[in-house]
Amino acid sequence: MLSMGDAALHTRIEKLREAIQHHEYLYYGLDEPEIPDADFDAMMRELIALEAEHPELVTPDSPTQRVGGKPKEGFAKVAHSRPMLSLDNVNSEAELRDWDRRVRELAGEGAAIAYVCEYKLDGLSMALHYRAGANGVSHLERGLTRGDGTIGEDVTGNVRTIRSVPLSISHTKLAKAKLPANFEVRGEVVMPHTAFLKMNEDREAQGLSPAANPRNAAAGTIRTLAPNIVAQRRLDFYAYFALTETGESLFPEQSDALESLAAAGFRVNPHRESVKTFDKLMEFINRAETQRETLGYEIDGAVIKLDSAELQRRLGYTGRAPRWAIAYKFTARAGVTKVEDIRVQVGRTGKLTPVAVLTPVSIGGTTVSRATLHNADEIERLGLLVKDWVKVERGGDVIPKVVEVVDDKDHPRGTTKFHFPTHCPVCGSEIVRTEGEVDYRCVNVDCPARLRESLLHFSARSVMNIEGLGEAVVTQLLDRGMVRSIADLYSLTEEQLLSLERIGKKSADTLLKEIDGSKRNPLNRVLFGLGIRFIGERTAQLLAEEFGSMDALMAASTDELERVNEVGPRVAQAIREFFDEAKNRELVERLRAAGLTFTAEKRKKSSQLEGLTFVLTGTLPNLTREDAKAKIEAAGGRVSGSVSKKTNYVVAGDDAGSKLDKARELGVKVVDEAGLMNLLG
Ligand code: IVH
Repeated sequence: MLSMGDAALHTRIEKLREAIQHHEYLYYGLDEPEIPDADFDAMMRELIALEAEHPELVTPDSPTQRVGGKPKEGFAKVAHSRPMLSLDNVNSEAELRDWDRRVRELAGEGAAIAYVCEYKLDGLSMALHYRAGANGVSHLERGLTRGDGTIGEDVTGNVRTIRSVPLSISHTKLAKAKLPANFEVRGEVVMPHTAFLKMNEDREAQGLSPAANPRNAAAGTIRTLAPNIVAQRRLDFYAYFALTETGESLFPEQSDALESLAAAGFRVNPHRESVKTFDKLMEFINRAETQRETLGYEIDGAVIKLDSAELQRRLGYTGRAPRWAIAYKFTARAGVTKVEDIRVQVGRTGKLTPVAVLTPVSIGGTTVSRATLHNADEIERLGLLVKDWVKVERGGDVIPKVVEVVDDKDHPRGTTKFHFPTHCPVCGSEIVRTEGEVDYRCVNVDCPARLRESLLHFSARSVMNIEGLGEAVVTQLLDRGMVRSIADLYSLTEEQLLSLERIGKKSADTLLKEIDGSKRNPLNRVLFGLGIRFIGERTAQLLAEEFGSMDALMAASTDELERVNEVGPRVAQAIREFFDEAKNRELVERLRAAGLTFTAEKRKKSSQLEGLTFVLTGTLPNLTREDAKAKIEAAGGRVSGSVSKKTNYVVAGDDAGSKLDKARELGVKVVDEAGLMNLLG
């Protein structure tokens, strides 16, 4: 590959990019992958390797460049081409009928009315601007949040990490989709349930409060200042409007706009339908409501739009919403029931979580008998008493929660105030609340509840992935005293497993194989599995890459730990405390003896720009400012905001202003983008 000629190299890189783009679309856009993940990864690795050898061939649209930017200080405010309005809502068939009647009246007699029905995705709306580049290709130029409707926030760096957002669209695709090279797409960013659950798991592992629902999680993620964090959480973008640069409908019909966007490679929700009668509208809505549970992402209703752009224009807008579209909102999945009792659960970090035990109630087809109360403060805030009636809400896969106490003549108040325990409900040890934290914790590292949760965490799919080691088996192993520490898993025998209930020879053998196989998990997973406070999946990965071995990590001082990206004093101290505890060191030694992976490949730091200070000014032809900054910093350089005698290079693009003048005045070297790429080697 090293001796590949220039032309061959170009072709190979282009081929890889095209193939990766195509498979990303199949996977993220259509949910219909055609090749195994491993084949996809192999292509991606080859492209990364080729680009690393030939950085001058990296383009900002390359699929390797989704995560370009480094953390930013904030987001720039940018005006929308046209205000991003919201929709008026209806909640019942009768209200929808009224709306339909008004539409028909306004459209005038004889107007042929056709509607497009879509799902109302419960996320946040986003405007994407695409702009013509070389060879008729269109590039993603900018992604804006709704903001106040008139002015949005520029979150381009984060939007680029969303795999269902095309970074570029080829000339052929544009032609097929009948799209001009400059256009705007509007749609919804959502976080699928699986990603939401995983994000909350990680947050809890780091001692952070979980996000309340997937919409908040998506909104929080898109406004995160570090694109690498955004990239780790799966977000999806569903397109629903195609507009001109100035915000006008691009197509005479909404149904055509949706087909065009799909043809251009956007993810368009497959649940869409053109209908002509009111009955068909209701059928779509009712179907949507039954499908709601099984979609894997949140919807909170259906959106009905007039198909014809001409009619849309004729109907126009009220102050804040179009007259030509309406949101049919499902009633929130909530129910009223009684709190029989409040119990306290102990988690793996010793955190105590109060849980309401409810009189079972059916909410949206699921029986709910427990709801989280989060923490002691939340019980105070709700003013909750045992035997109170409460309103409970749930969404998709989200854990049901108590939203308020119901107090009316049919629902008398409870009488018993709940007292948060002063001792662990499982082991009786003292519990503590660290200043500044909302949670109480059991401090006994041997608390059986903590061990149980630790074992479940250790075996979880995203951790050591030991299939078959679920609640039923863990409970039995603990009850029979076969496991007193995570390390005991590695000395379990077939005989022991066979003595458990509902375990036959076959499942015993499979479980032993799974346990044995888990030893091959990389160091970062082992670290995550240890359950050190604040160490989630990502921090574990960073620590493994930085230190390269369990021993180096165990020997690191808090200062050394804090040098790792994203590790602050609190996290560093938690790591130190963990390894300073004799019991934990013993656990680590036993895991070492069992043969778990204790070393990892250290991340190589490149240093060709070590000690050099750069100032960026003007618009570069290919790199965004964030990209350029990231590249310089990755190579050990520093980027500063102002030119001084200490500046080594000013990187100037189009429309460079006073910084360039200053550089000339001070005799600082000035390079363009190509010059920067040269320096980067
Ligand atoms: S159309 C003026 N279509 O619901 C047109 N919106 O209250 C407004 N939403 O802010 C947007 N799914 O965030 C439209 N299929 C869909 C939608 C949708 C979700 C959101 C959007 C908007 C809010 C309207």
